[in-house]
Amino acid sequence: MLFVTGGAGFIGSNFVLDWLAQSDEPVLNLDALTYAGNLGNLRSLEGDEGHIFVHGSIADGALVERLLADYRPRAIVNFAAESHVDRSIHGPADFIDTNIVGTFRLLEAARAYWSGGSKDDSFRFLHISTDEVFGTLDADDEAFHEETQYQPNSPYSASKAASDHLVRAYHHTYGLPVLTTNCSNNYGPFHFPEKLIPLVINNALLGRPLPLYGDGQQIRDWLYVKDHCSALRRVLQSGVPGRTYNVGGWNERTNLDVVQSICDLLDELKPRDDGQSYRGQITFVTDRPGHDRRYAIDARRIESELGWRPSETFESGIRKTVGWYLDNAEWVRNVTSGSYRNWLEKQYA
Ligand code: NAD
Ligand code: TYD
Repeated sequence: MLFVTGGAGFIGSNFVLDWLAQSDEPVLNLDALTYAGNLGNLRSLEGDEGHIFVHGSIADGALVERLLADYRPRAIVNFAAESHVDRSIHGPADFIDTNIVGTFRLLEAARAYWSGGSKDDSFRFLHISTDEVFGTLDADDEAFHEETQYQPNSPYSASKAASDHLVRAYHHTYGLPVLTTNCSNNYGPFHFPEKLIPLVINNALLGRPLPLYGDGQQIRDWLYVKDHCSALRRVLQSGVPGRTYNVGGWNERTNLDVVQSICDLLDELKPRDDGQSYRGQITFVTDRPGHDRRYAIDARRIESELGWRPSETFESGIRKTVGWYLDNAEWVRNVTSGSYRNWLEKQYA
C-alpha cells in the first residue's frame, strides 16, 4: 500500500488517479481538504476499494501514527502543502504550519513506524518539492541542478525549503530512506484556478481581464502534470535514498507567451461571440512583491540515472489542458464558489 498525503489537491489527485490506473496496489489518501483539496477530483474512484480516503492533517501526529500502524504502507508520498505563492504573501502562517510543522510531524511518525519495522530498507518517504527553493535566475544563468544552492525568496518557497532540509536531515541523521523531487511549474486537469494557467482559461471564458503581473516577461518551466506523476513513479521505484531529483519539462516560456498560447487555443476551440481574439482581454497589473524572474530546471539526472523523459511538449500539453477545462465546466463552477470569489477580490482589487 502507498500512503499519499494531499491526494485531493491538483498534483496529488492526478497521481492517485494515474497510480490506480496502472497498479493494483491500493492507496491510502490523507487530505485536510483545505480550499485547494477537492474530493470531486477523485469522483471516478467512488466505489473503488483500492482508494481509502481519510480526512485529516499531516500535522496530526497521533492520526498519522495510527494510520501507519493500521495500514502498514511500504511508502509515504507527501504532496500535502499550502502551494500558492500569492497566498503566502498575504498570510504566511498556514505555510509554516503545514509545510514546515506538518512535514516535521509526518517525518516523526514515519521515523517511529520505520524504526519499529526493523528499519526496512525498502521503505520510502518521497517528498514532493519545487524548483522555487533555488530562488531566481537571470536570463543567461544556467538552469537549476541538484547541487544549486537553496535561495528561496517567498514565504512559500522558504517553507518548502525548510521542509526539504528536514527531510534531508532525517536521512542523514536517522537513515530514513527518503527521496526528494524538485519539480517545475505543473499544469493540467484539476488545477485550481488561482494559478496562472487555469485562472486565465477561466477568466477568458467569463469575459474577464487576464491579469499579467508586471511586464509579463517572467519565465517558468512548464511540465504537464501527468509527466510529473510518471517521474514520481519512477523515483519511487528506482530512486536512490538520500538523493534529490530535479524534474522539468525543458519548456521555458514567458508568462506572456503562455497566456497568448491559451488565447490562441481558445480562439480556435471556443471563439468569442464577437469574433475578437481573447488576447484583447490581456491586462498588465501590479507586479507580485519579490517576484522571481526566471526558473529553469536541468533534469539530466532523472533522465540519465532513471531513464525518465516527459512525454508532452508544452504545445501538446496546453492543448489537452484547455480542452479539459472546456469539457469540465462543472468542475470549474464547483471550485469557484464563495471563498474563491473572496480570494479574487483580495488579490486583484
Ligand atoms: P494543491 O494546493 O493543489 O494541493 C495541496 C493539497 O494538500 C490539497 O488537497 C490540500 O487540501 C492538502 N493539504 C493542505 N494542507 C494539508 C495538511 N495539513 N494535511 C493534509 N493535507 C493538506 O497543491 P499542488 O499544486 O497539488 O502541489 C502538491 C505538492 O507539489 C506541494 O507540496 C507543492 O509544493 C508541490 N509542487 C507543486 C507544483 C505546482 O506547479 N503546482 C510544482 C512543484 C511542486
Ligand atoms: P503561479 O501559477 O502562481 O505559479 P508560481 O508563482 O508558483 O510560479 O504563477 C506563474 C507565473 O505567472 C508567475 O510568474 C506569476 C504569474 N502570474 C501572473 O502574471 N498573473 C496571475 O494572475 C497569476 C496567478 C500568476
